[in-house]
Amino acid sequence: ARTITNICCIGAGYVGGPTMAVIAQKCPHIKVTVVDINAQRIADWNDVDLNKLPIYEPGLADVVAEARGRNLFFSTDVDQAIDEAEMIFISVNTPTKTYGVGKGMAADLKYIELCARQIARVSKDDKIIVEKSTLPVRTAEALRTILTSTGNGVNFEILSSPEFLAEGTAIQDLMNPDRFLIGGEQTESGEAAVQSLVDIYANWVPRENIVTTRVWSSELSKLTANAFLAQRVSSINAISALCERTGADVDEIARAIGKDSRIGAKFIKSSVGFGGSCFQKDILNLVYLCQHFNLPEVAAYWEQVIKMNDYQKHRFAKKMIDSLFNTVSGKKIAFLGWAFKKDTNDTRESAAIYVADELLQDRAEIHVYDPKVTEEQIFADLEYLQEHRPNSCHSSEFEKLSSDEIRSLVTVHNDPYEAMKSAHATAILTEWDEFKTYDWKRVYNKMLKPAFVFDGRNIVSKTDLEQIGFRVYNIGKGE
Ligand code: NAD
Ligand code: UDX
Repeated sequence: ARTITNICCIGAGYVGGPTMAVIAQKCPHIKVTVVDINAQRIADWNDVDLNKLPIYEPGLADVVAEARGRNLFFSTDVDQAIDEAEMIFISVNTPTKTYGVGKGMAADLKYIELCARQIARVSKDDKIIVEKSTLPVRTAEALRTILTSTGNGVNFEILSSPEFLAEGTAIQDLMNPDRFLIGGEQTESGEAAVQSLVDIYANWVPRENIVTTRVWSSELSKLTANAFLAQRVSSINAISALCERTGADVDEIARAIGKDSRIGAKFIKSSVGFGGSCFQKDILNLVYLCQHFNLPEVAAYWEQVIKMNDYQKHRFAKKMIDSLFNTVSGKKIAFLGWAFKKDTNDTRESAAIYVADELLQDRAEIHVYDPKVTEEQIFADLEYLQEHRPNSCHSSEFEKLSSDEIRSLVTVHNDPYEAMKSAHATAILTEWDEFKTYDWKRVYNKMLKPAFVFDGRNIVSKTDLEQIGFRVYNIGKGE
């Protein structure tokens, strides 16, 4: 197999950035260049101030500090990086399509296609192309068609190596992965290409944790993994609704069933609903594939995972409005957390956005504090949703709010105590550790009475807060 000494990665996002930083750190003999068309993003990756890296991940700054300028480079010169590389990772975004055929379901592959065309145009020698982005099964075939269409004699081997890192723990996940997956063709040159990538990962990952499969299996494994994980969250969230009616406690149930080694303790934490750029998008993609291949029962089965998640977010917002005497109009409501989970500044598909949207329909005044998310991001998320609100049953009647309305109703704070001062209610949307350590007595004294806490992550103690005087609602805990 070819020994790789020069890698290019197209897409300097949440996947491309951390993944390449770790490869560069673990493989000092390989030159790694990460390229992006977004010049600001590249400038931020190159910023001498490591606090200005475009994404926040614990441990990332140290890895970048070690490798950047040594064998890790960030650049906007995509052509040059493609030309010099022996192996090209594609980690561009593959969002849900917002137009045309498959709108609202299928993965939008236009960025992938642009990459393929650019690689085909620029390449002068043989290259191994690695799909790092999450793609529908059989995308490699489309890639091959585009890559070989120029007929300039360059040979491309296409591998699938989907990324399983989770945000907030990306560096840890990359350093000690449960597995790295590589799918390749079962031809001599295909197997050699797989071996080249195995050799890279083997610099720090035990060989038995590097799984090799056929291309299609690898592509579909990624969608399947995310569908299974999301399904666990929706399953426990479904039970949380039943707990609230019956007096059972969903956290106790999770502890009890998690001890069963066949079930396992991870991914059964009930919450206000899962978010993030992957779960919903990948399940919709899976559902679309099933419909495409005429498997309506299979499609309906997986679609239910998303419906349950929509229900969970809606249930939380509705609980807030109901508890606040059926209206939140003109009431100050504090939001602790906006990111889709702790330890990230990523807000894509965050439950907070949907809960806020529902309260804004009733003209609540929302005051947000998140340790890592910027004010512009919060406004951008709400503005984007007005144009792309999904068609779930409860939101079909929602009004589109103007940018001005959003900006007059939503205030973003740098100080959590300011966000909660004189509020009717505080809602916890993200499980940031710091929320547990707040001086809740001080918060109580500054809030309006009755003071409500809606804990969408079950991170504060209901008993302690009730002793202070709060009225507490959390997920899946019946009276
Ligand atoms: P992202 O939006 O953070 O980053 C993608 C980057 O690609 C952007 O900076 C964009 O400017 C760049 N880009 C798009 N087209 C380009 C082109 N033609 N040339 C150069 N740059 C281009 O996305 P992400 O979260 O890193 O996700 C990337 C892929 O990885 C997706 O397919 C996603 O499903 C998958 N994935 C994401 C995660 C995650 O946790 N975010 C985990 C596993 C897999
Ligand atoms: C996910 C997959 O875990 C990862 O393997 C894949 O590569 C990308 O998609 P990510 O979306 O970054 O990662 O975070 P994850 O930890 O999976 O959390 C997703 C959402 O589910 C978050 O909103 C989280 O708060 C929620 N969640 C997770 C729960 O509500 N309960 C749980 O028990 C676990």
